Amino acid sequence: MSANKGKSFYVTTPIFYVNDAPHIGHAYTEVAADVLARWHRQRGEQSFLLTGTDEHGEKILRTAAANKTTPQEWADKLVEEAWLPLLETIDINNQDFIRTTEKRHEKNVQVFLQHLYDTGFIYRGSYEGNYCVGCEEYKTEGDLIDGEGDFAGQQVCAIHSKPVEKLQETNYFFKLSEFTQPLLDFYEANPNFIQPDSARNEVVAFVRRGLDDLSISRSKEKFDWGIDIPWDDSHITYVWFDALLNYITAIGYGEDTAEAKAKFEMLWPASVQVVGKDILRFHAVIWPAMLMAAGLAPANQVFGHGWLLVGGEKMSKSKLTGIAPSQITDTFGSDAFRYYFMKAIAFGSDGSFSWEDLSARYQAELANGFGNLASRVIAMVHRYFEGSLPAAGDFTDADMQVQAIAAAAVADADAAIEKVAIQDALTAIWTLVDELNNYITVQEPWVLAKDEATRGRLATVLNTTVEGLRVLAILLNPITPKATAKLWAAIGTSLGSLADQEIGQAGTWGQFQPGAVISELEALFPRIEVSDENA
Ligand code: MSP
Repeated sequence: MSANKGKSFYVTTPIFYVNDAPHIGHAYTEVAADVLARWHRQRGEQSFLLTGTDEHGEKILRTAAANKTTPQEWADKLVEEAWLPLLETIDINNQDFIRTTEKRHEKNVQVFLQHLYDTGFIYRGSYEGNYCVGCEEYKTEGDLIDGEGDFAGQQVCAIHSKPVEKLQETNYFFKLSEFTQPLLDFYEANPNFIQPDSARNEVVAFVRRGLDDLSISRSKEKFDWGIDIPWDDSHITYVWFDALLNYITAIGYGEDTAEAKAKFEMLWPASVQVVGKDILRFHAVIWPAMLMAAGLAPANQVFGHGWLLVGGEKMSKSKLTGIAPSQITDTFGSDAFRYYFMKAIAFGSDGSFSWEDLSARYQAELANGFGNLASRVIAMVHRYFEGSLPAAGDFTDADMQVQAIAAAAVADADAAIEKVAIQDALTAIWTLVDELNNYITVQEPWVLAKDEATRGRLATVLNTTVEGLRVLAILLNPITPKATAKLWAAIGTSLGSLADQEIGQAGTWGQFQPGAVISELEALFPRIEVSDENA
């Protein structure tokens, strides 16, 4: 992942199906993308996070029918009552939210389709295959497994554990097969396009076996909840072909105004597209081929993250294993949610959620490690210097070590984010949390305070720890923005707003003027009364 010079950092999430309310798996993707966007903003870059909802297709139509309503009404309700509120629940700072039923999307999907049709990349043909409505995808024999329980004796989708449906239709096809070699060449020339490496290897092996053309329309005789094929209104657009285009229709593709063109120019190609590994092939194979056919560049990177597992299986609403994000945030708050999932699971690997692990990390890492550090330091500045930051005197080796660890934490965390290794970034930041706690234990400022002769040393120790907190506030702002806002209100106002503190300068020591006002600190991570339910 790299910021294009002179361009904005543009990060996307998948757009989510509105057949059901979000669970923590969806929230996990949102948080990761938001952390990347906020980090780049803290670096001083223009940063743009896009998320949204995928509202067409058979799955949504069936859900709406089962709920005795129209798909549009169903989608409106779910967006208002579930998907937009999710962004508040987990504190997402997105710059746009696209719905595939919006005019700006539908119209420009048609522009894209017409362009590909006119340039010969789309043709009419017939098809027979096994369709999984849960995945909204044709499955090959290799994608199916033996069913269990109600479906024993049948072949079922490996992801949804439900039988597939035989479809035979005359459809329009995208000449995906023509992109087998161009894609392989592209992967070779852009080794970081698909990350992590395990995901890349899997996709490359898949494409090497050769690609088939892709059916991109469905006959309206079967169902009609989608975007009309512009030259044949007896067909609607295949929901994935429609959905993938959100990443460009949201930023002005197809619009003629100078403003739209400038926006597109500034944002495309996206810096990183964050997706779950379940939908990696759509994003790393079909999507770049669609863009190549239209003469557009693929994204700089597609990052396929792992699954949150329950009982060893992907957490999912259809299997009734989904946990609502608010179940966690109501007790622990959004900062803890964000920190926990970014720290406990290596981004790219699968991971299991447990209440015990969340509680333990909240207590040890956030409340004791970071929160207590901040409150002790600030309380001492009040107790010993009446809330006015004392100037530092000569530095000892111990002080210099804090400065060196702070500088290394900044550099290492920034390098980790560049590789989308969010967990490693937090590990780097925590070297400074641990160092500052250790420094206070060794320096014993409460002992220094007892003797007027060591008052100069006490001043240096407290100055050093407040400088350390400054660095932590900047580095943690993309991950725990509520806590860092409180911390900044207590220590940072003399330096301007926290948003203006660039990561690149964070490690430069001695930024506070002596006498800077240090105010009272609100508890960053209050004690949690663990209820029986969450115990
Ligand atoms: N609508 C399509 C995506 C279209 S993008 C052009 C879709 N939607 S979805 O609602 O099913 O969301 C899928 C995404 O949600 C996954 O790719 C992943 O980002 C996230 N997750 C859903 N369940 C998850 C887990 N159990 N664990 C981690 N992420 C999960 O597919």
